[in-house]
Amino acid sequence: MSTAFRTQTCGELRAEHVGQRVALAGWVHRRRDHGHLAFFDLRDRHGITQVVTNAEDAADAHAAAEPARNEWVVQVEGTVRHRPEGTTNAELATGEIEVAVDRFAVLNPSKVPPFYINEEQPGLDETLRLKHRYLDLRRPPMQQRMLLRARLASAIRRALEDEEFVEIETPLLIRSTPEGARDFVVPSRVQPGHFYALPQSPQQLKQILMVAGYDRYYQLAHCMRDEDTRKDRGPEFTQIDIEMSFVTEDDVMAAVERMATRVSREVLPERPILHEPFPRITYAEAMARYGSDKPDIRFGMELVDLTETVREVDFRVFAEPIAAGGAVFAICAPGCADYTRKQLDELIDLAKRHGAKGLVHLSVQPDGSLHGPAAKFLAGRETDLLAAVGASAGDLVLIVADADRIAGAEALGHVRLAMGDALGLRQPGVLAYVWVHRFPMFTWEEDGQRWDATHNPFSAPVPDDVPLMESDPGAVRAQQYDLALNGWECGGGSVRIHQRELLERAFALMGHTLEGMRDQFGALLDALEYGAPPHGGIAIGLDRWAALFADVDNIREVMAFPKTQSGADLMMGAPSPISPGQLAELRLHIVEED
Ligand code: AMO
Ligand code: AMP
Repeated sequence: MSTAFRTQTCGELRAEHVGQRVALAGWVHRRRDHGHLAFFDLRDRHGITQVVTNAEDAADAHAAAEPARNEWVVQVEGTVRHRPEGTTNAELATGEIEVAVDRFAVLNPSKVPPFYINEEQPGLDETLRLKHRYLDLRRPPMQQRMLLRARLASAIRRALEDEEFVEIETPLLIRSTPEGARDFVVPSRVQPGHFYALPQSPQQLKQILMVAGYDRYYQLAHCMRDEDTRKDRGPEFTQIDIEMSFVTEDDVMAAVERMATRVSREVLPERPILHEPFPRITYAEAMARYGSDKPDIRFGMELVDLTETVREVDFRVFAEPIAAGGAVFAICAPGCADYTRKQLDELIDLAKRHGAKGLVHLSVQPDGSLHGPAAKFLAGRETDLLAAVGASAGDLVLIVADADRIAGAEALGHVRLAMGDALGLRQPGVLAYVWVHRFPMFTWEEDGQRWDATHNPFSAPVPDDVPLMESDPGAVRAQQYDLALNGWECGGGSVRIHQRELLERAFALMGHTLEGMRDQFGALLDALEYGAPPHGGIAIGLDRWAALFADVDNIREVMAFPKTQSGADLMMGAPSPISPGQLAELRLHIVEED
């Protein structure tokens, strides 16, 4: 890619260019001095090329290069030659050649960076990285991740456009759609006291686009949610937002599956997809087998329901939850019977952090007997128990009992993941996509003492369950599906309610008044009365997908300019106070905390 400054990039030159006169521009990655010879690794995002100045052959160039240090931007001209015998570098694409420099120009010096750009530094302070993000982004591993993300986004666009999806942008200043988080709001100057909300997602707008006839919409949409930052969530993120008309659950899942399969093959040809077609399991099954609604199915170690096996056991830890209508779940960690006290305590802590009251551990001895604090209560039932969990000598059985089935399964699900990590079963080499569907439509909110939407309030109930809406809301299943990948929720969507009357019924159940509904969802409710087609869609988290592809455990590693844990942009210094003039113009005043 030649420009006025260069004939090639730093990643382009090969043996076939030997003898050619070239110009390169880039950053000094590393410099090595050997008296009258100076070697520079010149770097840009395309690669690294070794260039050499020689005091005897080109004294001016050698002198001009003398001050250049790491991260200076320079331009060189010279001739491509083979590297001498024994000095080729097989790890570099350009490793067979070097450039003998006869002109060296410093384009811009650099201060000494606060961290190394040219070396991996495990544990490099994230605050420092975010403050100097331009330097962090210059590091080769960061550049590789940003380029991977760009390839992913580009493959997604191609796959969707080949299936006649059209990209339509929606505004950032909107009236909010609730997605379960707090809104970020923007004050209006023209209408003092009125606020826009930044979209938590373009949900209502994409449904309105269906009413408008734009079947098969997509957008790489920025979403903003004022919620606590975690490894897999930030206040600002990108969704591959999709909506389709005249579809059922199956149509949406099939379209997304074709896209995800094609994109995975194109972007990560070396990582096989574990199951094709992607398995589909119901929410109930996912909870019962994996204790998670985003199961990691790269390994087994599935939960076993021991409730019936231990129903008659006289052990308070099991008996009380069972009497309360709960359940007892177990997993078998193969070969872990010799876990130390410390390792077991860590597992107990982990289970408790995830809501369990405790964790029973039983080591299976060579003679098939059980060892552990609860073993005495199970005397005589060892064979039944081992058969039920599929354990044998040398294995470790881990058990959680809970009056709340789901809560118990979830806690043990986290222990399962930890054991999967400990035993090296969660290999990043494979892509294990799985659909989870048939979520409950409503969840009971203890705080507000009301039913709330499990996914979003627009999801349609499974037709057979509609009559249960008022009589048994907890039993109504939604036409809703999540796409999980290697234990992460990658995307989620649903078939929507496209009839006003049914939507109002669902809203009423969630405690909305008629006025409240009109206020929050008026446009959508109105639109539904003008020939809204049956429709459904999904949104996939681009940041999460890119993180999984890049094999990093934090979405900030695949975002160019992410916020910190506390929502700050350390480089630009946001959020920041605004001037008294701006406040006055918006007719706002800040209430100081006492
Ligand atoms: P949902 O809220 O499930 O659905 O979001 C869809 C996907 O977006 C990603 N995601 C996030 N990624 C990073 N940080 C966050 N804070 C964050 N929140 C969500 C996840 C998630 O699976 N309007 C619906 C979609 C629909 O029904 O079509 C919605 O936004 O990967
Ligand atoms: P306790 O009598 O409460 O000290 O509990 C005895 C043992 O049972 C301890 O090892 C606890 O970790 C474990 N335990 C307590 N409650 C539960 C539970 N609900 N499920 C599994 N194990 C539990």
